[in-house]
Amino acid sequence: MSASSEFNNSQIEVMISAEAIQARIKELGAAIARDYTGRKPELICVLKGALVFMSDLIRAIDLELSIDFIAVSSYGKGTRSTGEVRIIKDLDEPLEGRDIILVEDILDTGLTLSYLVNSFRARGATSISIVTLLNKPERRKAEVQADYIGFTIEDKFVVGYGLDAAERYRNLPYIGVVKSTD
Ligand code: IMP
Ligand code: MG
Repeated sequence: MSASSEFNNSQIEVMISAEAIQARIKELGAAIARDYTGRKPELICVLKGALVFMSDLIRAIDLELSIDFIAVSSYGKGTRSTGEVRIIKDLDEPLEGRDIILVEDILDTGLTLSYLVNSFRARGATSISIVTLLNKPERRKAEVQADYIGFTIEDKFVVGYGLDAAERYRNLPYIGVVKSTD
């Protein structure tokens, strides 16, 4: 077997290191544990991008909690969101009476999260808050406020730590930017 990896990451420029991500997640977990003392929140991971963040975040929250997963896609596959969101995989458990924490990889236009917050409200959640690893405020189209933000970044397309470019790079332990080839 060849010693060199076939997975070539040399075209990725690191924006946020693995260490910085882990340190920030400890802080977010502590803040959530403090704010939700005495409650049993349900953390809902927005697949697929938030998977990696979710798995580290729940281990940083020293509380009794439960988890669930939802997968959505925006209509019209392209990189431009139209605002229409389709649920591909719905929650397993009802939301009635639950304190929900929505876990996202990145808050960009806000269209996905504004749709989910409205839909979860209509389904009877007691409270809904948002934790996002990344926040790109420059591209916001819908009024959405995250309650917990890992890092606010400039308007660049980022990959790694769950985030993909055409399904690639999700397994990088850091957040990076694909270098332009020209
Ligand atoms: P929003 O509805 O525009 O806020 O969409 C958020 C979703 O778009 C995220 O969950 C990501 O899947 C995707 N997305 C937005 N910006 C990026 C990026 O820079 N890299 C990878 N995916 C992104
Ligand atoms: Mg996503």
